[in-house]
Amino acid sequence: MLKNLYSGVAGLALVASVAAAEDVEVLHWWTAGGEAAALNVLKDDLQGQGIGWVDMPVAGGGGEAAMTTLRARVTAGDAPTAVQMLGFDIKDWAAEDVLGNLNEVAEAEGWDKVVPEALQYFSKDDGNWIAAPVNVHSTNWVWISKSALDATGLDAPQSWEELIAVLDAMKANGITPLAHGGQAWQDATIFDAVVLSLGDDFYTASMIDLDPDALGGDTMVEAFERMAKLRSYVDDNFSGRDWNLASSMVINGEAGMQMMGDWAKGEFLRADMTPGEDFVCIRFPGTQGAVTFNSDQFVMFDVADGDAAQLAMAKAVMDPAFQSAFNVVKGSVPARTDVPNDAFDGCGKKGMADLAEAGSNGRLFGSMAHGHSVPASVKNAIYDVVTAHFNGEYDAATAAEELVNAVEFAQ
Ligand code: BGC
Repeated sequence: MLKNLYSGVAGLALVASVAAAEDVEVLHWWTAGGEAAALNVLKDDLQGQGIGWVDMPVAGGGGEAAMTTLRARVTAGDAPTAVQMLGFDIKDWAAEDVLGNLNEVAEAEGWDKVVPEALQYFSKDDGNWIAAPVNVHSTNWVWISKSALDATGLDAPQSWEELIAVLDAMKANGITPLAHGGQAWQDATIFDAVVLSLGDDFYTASMIDLDPDALGGDTMVEAFERMAKLRSYVDDNFSGRDWNLASSMVINGEAGMQMMGDWAKGEFLRADMTPGEDFVCIRFPGTQGAVTFNSDQFVMFDVADGDAAQLAMAKAVMDPAFQSAFNVVKGSVPARTDVPNDAFDGCGKKGMADLAEAGSNGRLFGSMAHGHSVPASVKNAIYDVVTAHFNGEYDAATAAEELVNAVEFAQ
């Protein structure tokens, strides 16, 4: 459904409660090196405009821990001013009637015309702007060490079979073929790409429409078989590993590739690696031309004395020059369609072109793993099954059956 909406294209909690009116307290999960570098671009930009920053970082890729902290803060009557949030979480909070309204700045700045409708679907509630999108990430990427690829004598893989050939060759060369961290959201990130590699219609039917026939059918069994095959290329110490440590394994030559959203590029850049020379970015084989996206948006909570600073932050986040500067560092692409690609590297330019192409061809889909295809309750049910299977608790056929049950129960 989302595809049709697209047109064109640590813990300073103590100081939080004393934040001055001209400050924003920002709850986020950007704590890895590349993420923090991007965050600094935002902090500096705001500080330059006289908006003070009270930091509320909650570590944990994918933001689950941050969302738990947020719930506790809101329940205690102490909502932060601005919160990094993904897709359906924004809709869930909007339904609780606790968010601020950004219409004043959105109208003055013409957001309606420049923000793709696929993002507006999440940024607006009942026609009102409630969030400012800072980027568009996508999850169906593979980040490959150039030297490890060259050592295989093979080209970057275009199909599942070619991917397996490259992984086998890397194994034969004595490195860990696939760098991965065993955390549910990371398993789910690979699952996004594997499901999409089995067809746009299959992704739509299973991850967006939650059709039980697709969730439990033969193609889903094949998806789980592919997941098990990928698991066989991961090292034994993967459990609980953070995603950025998996990126480091590729960076330092210990591993051949990582299947991860484009925030991984931020880690490669921080390590002074150059796309095309030191690492290669490709779409997950079999998903070329299609994109599973997620967008980080800043949601403003309805807090006393926050308004002016919140509107100023929202305006700053949506500024075209800022969107370019921030996303160049973050690994994502701008959340507006009118930002030039000049400052972006090869992977960034590809990301922007892929997004526009997928949008105009009806091949842009919300990422399940990152909260853009189904609400968190269903997402978490899918996570549980994908992770249990990845850790060998279910065979592929049982996993597909369990998926049907888990999704039905969660709805
Ligand atoms: C967010 C990214 C973040 C990544 C890892 C994703 O859900 O959209 O901004 O870098 O999680 O923490």
